[in-house]
Amino acid sequence: MEIRIFDTPAQCGNACATLIAAQIIKKEDSILGLATGSTPIPTYNRLVEMYQQGIIDFSKCRSFNLDEYVGIPEDHPCSYHRFMRDNLFDRVNIDIANTHVPNGNASDLQKETSSYDKAIIDAGGIDVQLLGIGRNGHIGFNEPGEKFITPCHEVTLTESTIEANKRFFDSENDVPRKAVSLGIGAIMRARCVVLVATGKDKAQAIHDTVKGEITPDVQASILQAHPNAILFIDKEAASML
Ligand code: PGA
Repeated sequence: MEIRIFDTPAQCGNACATLIAAQIIKKEDSILGLATGSTPIPTYNRLVEMYQQGIIDFSKCRSFNLDEYVGIPEDHPCSYHRFMRDNLFDRVNIDIANTHVPNGNASDLQKETSSYDKAIIDAGGIDVQLLGIGRNGHIGFNEPGEKFITPCHEVTLTESTIEANKRFFDSENDVPRKAVSLGIGAIMRARCVVLVATGKDKAQAIHDTVKGEITPDVQASILQAHPNAILFIDKEAASML
């Protein structure tokens, strides 16, 4: 695992966007694994700037997002479909038909999750997977538990995640209790994984991810076993290393 520490979240975002841009320049039909949350916003802003400057072209890229809540409409202001349109898809020239976010409203979630995994494999696998990290060490919505769950699956969110995500909703009661998440398998199969973490409230999770043993209690710790994982973290998130 390679670790790079920056002074500010904006610098982490610039570095991460540069890595993704390099991937797109190297392979114009790259498969991008994308993430939501507050952390990737500086990365997306910088990617949009690079697109506007003519440095990168998304027209042949395809993307697969990590996760989506179960049971809120796609156009809900807190849905990850909406987040991706607002922060990236509607601001660059990616073909929306080439973007994929799990359908948390599928009538058959089992079918949805297995076809999502298959679509990634059929596309040739993820070239670069962008990740945030939860305060509890989750990646995607792979919550702490007894094992690493390999396939895309339905998840019951932990209290810690509901607490962390309530800031986006009107009240804690409005936070969905379930989600669909890419499993650890697809994340580990990505050819490159880049995890961004900023702020003091990620310091413990980053410590456990980097210095702890590999354990499903800290799902991100599995990245120690990934051959090409890079962490872009700010000084605050690095403060316990
Ligand atoms: P955040 O979420 O970027 O909003 O902190 C990250 C995550 O939960 O994976």
